[in-house]
Amino acid sequence: MQDVIDYLVGQQDDALQQLCEFLRIPSVSADSAFAADVARCAKWVRSAMEKAGLKAEIIPTKGHPIVYGERIESPELPTILVYGHYDVQPPDPLDLWTSPPFEPQIRDGRLFARGATDDKGQVFTHLKSIEAWMKLRGRLPVNIKFLIEGEEEVGSDNLEHFLKQNTDRLKADVAVISDTSQYGDGIPAITCGLRGIVAAEVRLTGPSKDLHSGIFGGSIANPANALAKICGQLVGDDGRIQIPGFYDDVEELTELEKQQFGQLPFDEAAFLSEVGSSAPFGESGRSTLERRWARPTCDINGMISGYTGQGPKTIIPSKATAKITCRLVPSQKPAKVLDALEKFLSSLCPPGLKFEFLRFHGCEAFVFDPTSEWITAASEAVKVAFGRPPVFIREGGSIPVVLSFKQILGLDTLLLGWGRNTDNLHSPNEHMHVADFHRGTLGSACLWQHLATVRRTS
Ligand code: BES
Ligand code: ZN
Repeated sequence: MQDVIDYLVGQQDDALQQLCEFLRIPSVSADSAFAADVARCAKWVRSAMEKAGLKAEIIPTKGHPIVYGERIESPELPTILVYGHYDVQPPDPLDLWTSPPFEPQIRDGRLFARGATDDKGQVFTHLKSIEAWMKLRGRLPVNIKFLIEGEEEVGSDNLEHFLKQNTDRLKADVAVISDTSQYGDGIPAITCGLRGIVAAEVRLTGPSKDLHSGIFGGSIANPANALAKICGQLVGDDGRIQIPGFYDDVEELTELEKQQFGQLPFDEAAFLSEVGSSAPFGESGRSTLERRWARPTCDINGMISGYTGQGPKTIIPSKATAKITCRLVPSQKPAKVLDALEKFLSSLCPPGLKFEFLRFHGCEAFVFDPTSEWITAASEAVKVAFGRPPVFIREGGSIPVVLSFKQILGLDTLLLGWGRNTDNLHSPNEHMHVADFHRGTLGSACLWQHLATVRRTS
């Protein structure tokens, strides 16, 4: 397949220019002010699919549209379902960007723009590799189905319905997602496990309005005091979560997995400097990688109460709210964890305060069998592009569609990340290294070739 590789190397500059066009469309799914841009972006993706040689269409949903494209070569060949998202996170805070988020700019070998790595740049590697195969050979080594959605950054609310309604159309042998990262610079990774997540909000209401803290203070419960005290009991000084029953279903790593984690290069000082902290914290007796990838968490993501403006203000606030998420590991069940969280928090709520508990999205953790033939084939492809074989890792983040693919379509997923965790995902100055984009495109082109050799079982 040297011809395909040579072709891709020859047109790298054009590919980068086209990616910049994709990045100029501000497809922010969370903000309705950008709805027309999201729709325009879906059209851009459809035309990129068509240019690559796929039959493509835009499928409206109750929210933002899904773009679907496919090319079926032969029933004998494996069928690969590629998933990605064309929507992006809001660019705020704007004043922290060195160049405007939707005016892509290359500096120090990096392409800066919102969505550069999450996930437009990574999605585009797959479209360019398909285009190269089609230009040079007029056919693909596998059957390809592309599902690129516009609501990943807002919880993929309408995707499950689409999957359930289209099980035949989406039939495939394996899924491929490039929405994770390399393990480190030039160290490719195949991600074999993701944590799950549950999200909730707790609201405490005390007096019917804010009160003078001198006149009334000390005589009634203060919701902000109570919320801080309750939330303060979620995690112990030893890093253990103190919710009764929280660890009941948690699976320990196998000795082999512990050994594999231990063999990965990990520089604690570099990790601390990257996150800007002076010391690590977590469950005692566990390594940082184990804490991040294979242990559950309970984190407060935000707290709102009372006066937060300049200077003092002497009130007892009427309300206090906290947003909480727990990352889950195998075999924790989202509903059971939320029940335990609610019971624990409500049992600590002092008299005189109204306790409310709201539940949001949730998904279970997922681990893959690293010995599957698909993973072996993907490793070979990655080796060609990176010049070294991938390491097998887990990640602490969550990609709920992976579980939906398993449960609704019966599909395993290959998680192949071309970018880096240091690319400022969801943050100002998001970027993708130009070299990572080109290398990802080569990796993708090799992937189809190697997946074509896998014996199908379905
Ligand atoms: N691409 C990320 C997930 C990710 C990033 C996994 C890096 C592994 C390495 C995805 O876009 C994301 O942010 N997911 C959310 C899911 C949640 C909103 C349900 C997450 O993990 O917070
Ligand atoms: Zn993403």
